[in-house]
Amino acid sequence: MEKKILVIDDDRTVCASLKLLLKRSGYSVRTIHHPTEAMDMTAEFRPHVVLLDMNFTIDTSGKHGLKMLDRLMAQYPQVSVILITGWATLQLAVEGMKRGAKDFLAKPWDNKQLLSSISTIFQLYHTKMTSDDPGSEETVIVGDSLALSRVMDIVDRVAPTDASVLVTGESGTGKELIAEAIHQRSKRADGPFVRVNLGGISTTLFESELFGHVKGAFTGAHSDREGRFTLAQGGTLFLDEIGELSLESQVKLLRVLQEKTYEVLGSSRSRRLDARIVCATNRSLPEMVAEGTFREDLYYRINLIEMRLPSLSERRDDIPLLVKHFLKKVQSLYDIEVPYVPDETYQWLSQQSYSGNIRQLKNLVERTALLNYHEKELTYKSFQSIMSVEPSATARIKLPQVGSVTLEEMERQMIIKTLQYHNQSISKTSRSLGLTRSSLYRRIEKYGIEVES
Ligand SMILES: Nc1ncnc2c1ncn2[C@@H]1O[C@H](COP(=O)(O)OP(=O)(O)OP(=O)(O)O)[C@@H](O)[C@H]1O
Ligand SMILES: [Mg+2]
Repeated sequence: MEKKILVIDDDRTVCASLKLLLKRSGYSVRTIHHPTEAMDMTAEFRPHVVLLDMNFTIDTSGKHGLKMLDRLMAQYPQVSVILITGWATLQLAVEGMKRGAKDFLAKPWDNKQLLSSISTIFQLYHTKMTSDDPGSEETVIVGDSLALSRVMDIVDRVAPTDASVLVTGESGTGKELIAEAIHQRSKRADGPFVRVNLGGISTTLFESELFGHVKGAFTGAHSDREGRFTLAQGGTLFLDEIGELSLESQVKLLRVLQEKTYEVLGSSRSRRLDARIVCATNRSLPEMVAEGTFREDLYYRINLIEMRLPSLSERRDDIPLLVKHFLKKVQSLYDIEVPYVPDETYQWLSQQSYSGNIRQLKNLVERTALLNYHEKELTYKSFQSIMSVEPSATARIKLPQVGSVTLEEMERQMIIKTLQYHNQSISKTSRSLGLTRSSLYRRIEKYGIEVES
């Protein structure tokens, strides 16, 4: 059966690249650039999922996007809306979730994350459709180093049990991938794998996300909303970035894990929690426990089994295999012929340091292949020139612990990181933050940020 997605974004390049990406994953896609066409197109095309940008240049406040969401939800409640938002409208995205949007992604988003969000939505809300699932990539864990085989041994041993697992490791080491592998090798493999990112989530949003709510539970709860505890029934609940959870939310989570029951907001009936819990973090929870920012009792409950993933420098032997794997993926995803890679290049790649671990290596390989596919070979120099312009750390934006910094400081850091991500391009940065160029400049000046050129 056809799986249809409508993209609403006034940025034509965003539309074009999303269309390409989604089509390659097997979806039918239409794009429109102006919100006024949205209702007509929805009526005609009958999409299952709508990707809605919150910032239109006609109105960068995002209010327009919210209104659009309300109209869509009112007229087409069966449609699942994913909001795409810049930093400036993050608050509105949270509001949008309360009003019924299924998910939101902050720019710059990660393609894999987008695809997995869409595929989860198809799994959860459009299950009457075919069971094959073009959006989700099969979990392939590449590598045969000793460090990785130790990890995989533990995965094989713990997967069949229902024990909660804590996956730790630096950013980009494959924590999410391992969590998926645990699910796929468990007795719950036929059940759902539900991921929730706890980074930067407020206590209110945490509650409505996990517990769900009934219509009228609080102002703005216009309809019932299934929480992730319910959606993960019979499967695995992956709590990503658990170290970012506020103390208040930690208490709420702990109670559910202890009692194995939860109550949907606004309803008094308690339901049994039937989900295996896997958590991940790149922070040191024992340190946080010592500092008093993470509850010790919660820590012991979630880490019945702890798996620390090795950084890429601890498994250099895997680098050639990983590079080959990523090259193959670029080849099929973009339909290009990847040039020959001499041994010398593999050697060079194996000796570099990657603070962003596998994610950084993957980005490097993808970019180098895309920029050099017309060459005869991929020499180490081609990789080197891309590596030198890449931000060394991972470009993923990590929100700081709630309560630890001011909003202004967060804004400042966000701007610096987004500038780095876009190699200091003002126009790309302003677009991805949902700011006009002049308001970005005003903030750069206000915070005294240095823009390299
Ligand atoms: N062993 C592996 N084989 C193939 N791909 C991998 C492997 N490990 C990680 N990757 C890829 O590297 C990227 C980063 O992995 P993942 O998102 O699981 O990392 P993470 O530890 O959750 O990072 P973060 O802490 O930043 O969230 C993903 O695209 C993933 O598919
Ligand atoms: Mg992750």
